[in-house]
Order: sequence, then structure tokens, then C-alpha cells
Amino acid sequence: MPSIQWEDTLAIGIYAIDRQHMDLLALVNEFLKAIAQKRGKDVVEKIVARLREYTVLHFHDEEAYMNEVRYPARGEHQMRHQELARAVKLFQRDLYKHRDVPVEQLRQFLKDWLINHILEQDMKIGKWVRAEEERRKIKAGEKEVPVQGEVPEDEGANEG
Ligand SMILES: [Fe+2]
Repeated sequence: MPSIQWEDTLAIGIYAIDRQHMDLLALVNEFLKAIAQKRGKDVVEKIVARLREYTVLHFHDEEAYMNEVRYPARGEHQMRHQELARAVKLFQRDLYKHRDVPVEQLRQFLKDWLINHILEQDMKIGKWVRAEEERRKIKAGEKEVPVQGEVPEDEGANEG
């Protein structure tokens, strides 16, 4: 089965976004399965259309979230989304022209397309939001400024 597995290392720590990434991955896998099983053109085209629709919705929601929290690199991130949307559009066009693209090639494209973006771009949103929360706590006096080299109690507790 040429599926792409969800792993916890893909979680950015923002539930609404992680949930949508899992749904996107499920759609990608549904597509790969349909190709592997040589399902009809109608079936495959419907899945790709759903994948594109869901991608648009997801990018929209993620961008709304970045605006809401005032994520500083949201302009750059939005540009990456535009590139991804264009890439999947071309992918769809190519697929219709050459119907016999090997499933492994499709899998690799979709893996790069989705997984690399999550790991390289979306992960930064989660990290920034957590760092921002720390800064807020320190500013509000809810937390002491960490001394460099000091191991926070909760992290130290998990070690050996
Ligand atoms: Fe993103």
C-alpha cells in the first residue's frame, strides 16, 4: 500500500491545524489507493477535486489563524501556500494528460508537497505561538525568566 503515514512528529501542536493536516493526508492516501487499485477516471478525478477544495479551505483557515495570532512571517507563509496551490493545480492537469503516471511518482510528489510544508513551514507557527505564550507569561509575572543552562523541572523529570 503506497500510503503516507501520519506521525506524531508532524504535529505542530495547534489542534485545529493538526486535525486538518490529518484530513489532508487521509485524502492523499485515498487518492493513492484509487490509483494503485486502477479505479476509474471519475473516481480519481472526484478525489483530486476534493483534495484541491480541501487544500483551499485549509490554507484559508491556517492563514486566518496566522492573522489572528499576528504571526510575524504570515506574508511569506501565504506565498508558500500560493505556490503549493499552483503546484497541485499543475499536478491535476498533468494527471489528466498522462493517465499512466507511476503511483510511486505520485506518492513522492504528494509527500514532498504536504509533508515538507508541514515540517518546514507550519512547524514554525507552532513554535512561535509557544514562545509567544512564554513571553506573555514572563511579562505578566506568571513565570520567572529562565536562567541559561537551567533545566526546567517538567522537562528534567522525563529524563533517564
Ligand atoms: Fe501552511
